[in-house]
Amino acid sequence: MRRVTLLVILAITVGIGVAACNSQGTVEPFPETIEGDVEAPEVAVGDAGAGAVVFIDAGCGGCHVLAGVDGATGTVGPDLTVVLAGTDTAYIQQSIVTPDAVISEGFTAGIMQPAQVSDEELADLVALLHESAGGS
Ligand code: HEC
Repeated sequence: MRRVTLLVILAITVGIGVAACNSQGTVEPFPETIEGDVEAPEVAVGDAGAGAVVFIDAGCGGCHVLAGVDGATGTVGPDLTVVLAGTDTAYIQQSIVTPDAVISEGFTAGIMQPAQVSDEELADLVALLHESAGGS
């Protein structure tokens, strides 16, 4: 009796699995015609407002000043509003993920650790820093 119940459950599970696979068969991921230039963005577009929360939560504000963000008053690292002026999002993202790739003038390597943030939080931080520094 128990064995039969198990078999029934197994049959139903497999059935659902097969149905789920079949439903994907008709998806067409690419449009047939593409007009104009379509370039894949190098850096995900984030939300600067959410980035301000991440900036404080992740401890960035303890080491950096950033204009417009309350609590971002640290002086261990450079004032990001100043040093990031004119930089692009790819540079900013690199600075957060691999801080020692480029060392800000007057500062030393090894103080800032690579940020432990999710991809979404990283995108939000990049958007915030890019906006605050009025980057290119
Ligand atoms: C323990 C202190 C400390 C913390 C915390 C910290 N930083 Fe830094 N950061 C530094 C120092 C020191 C430098 C300068 C040395 C260098 O360029 O790596 C720096 C450099 C940077 C730069 C590069 C500036 C340039 O001139 O290109 C960026 C961007 C940056 N930090 C963003 C962040 C973000 C975002 C966070 C939070 C996720 C953060 N930092 C957390 C100390 C810190």
